Amino acid sequence: MWCWNKKLRRLCLVEVSQRQRQLNAIRDTRGRMQHFWKAHSVELSAKEMMLDDDADALGLEEIPELLSLLPDLNGKDVIELGAGIGRFTGELSKTAKSVLAVDFMEKFVEQNKTVNGDHKNIEFLAADVTKLDRPAESVDVIFSNWLFMYLDDEELYKLINKLLLWLREGGYLLFRESCFHPSGNIKRTDNPTYYRRPGIYCSMLHSVSAKQGGVECGFELMFSKSVRTYVEVCITKIYILLLFICTFQFYIP
Ligand SMILES: C[S@@+](CC[C@H](N)C(=O)[O-])C[C@H]1O[C@@H](n2cnc3c(N)ncnc32)[C@H](O)[C@@H]1O
Repeated sequence: MWCWNKKLRRLCLVEVSQRQRQLNAIRDTRGRMQHFWKAHSVELSAKEMMLDDDADALGLEEIPELLSLLPDLNGKDVIELGAGIGRFTGELSKTAKSVLAVDFMEKFVEQNKTVNGDHKNIEFLAADVTKLDRPAESVDVIFSNWLFMYLDDEELYKLINKLLLWLREGGYLLFRESCFHPSGNIKRTDNPTYYRRPGIYCSMLHSVSAKQGGVECGFELMFSKSVRTYVEVCITKIYILLLFICTFQFYIP
């Protein structure tokens, strides 16, 4: 790049290094997310899971609310992605046939094991979901609370394609993400989270398809809605927060 004088040259260099920083950041989503969760895996607490000082009170209402939206888990094989310290894992295992609880922070997985290890139908796995593989048609329900927002668009798209393959016919994917804004009140200096619009998730899920037994199959949106617990809290905190739950059904048309 040719610059006419020193000032302009300096500006050009600043612009180039800014662009380089942006590029580095885009290339290194994994590093940024690992770094973020390392910084938030000290206490191994609900506060860290929800990044909110009121986590304990919120959890009392939020956990049953989300669980009430799941299909009947009796006799079902379940995968919980981004399971954290296991706020949901133990509950899921009470009715499911099996639960595979996955998280990429080993400390969270260990904490989950400490709390829920006596449930013999739970398998605990320390793994990055972007690198996870499972056999085709091996799971009935995939549950995930606040994970997709820690993946960039490309990673999320690839994962959703895999989830479709892992699900058995008639299976369910239920996930919950913070949309538009952060949900928790804990200050974050470096926050790499992707606060997408709900429609982005819808179009991404509708855009994937797979062939099983020569038949085209995909996700069908059953419902999406705000989490009531948070809507009520937001009113008292006087800022608007939108959360999104979406259940997709796997179907063979
Ligand atoms: C906001 S916390 C939610 C934890 C748990 N679902 C809950 O509601 O208590 C997000 C979790 O996702 C995990 N996570 C983020 N990116 C991940 C990835 N690529 N693979 C596996 N786990 C991931 C983090 O370690 C963290 O435990």
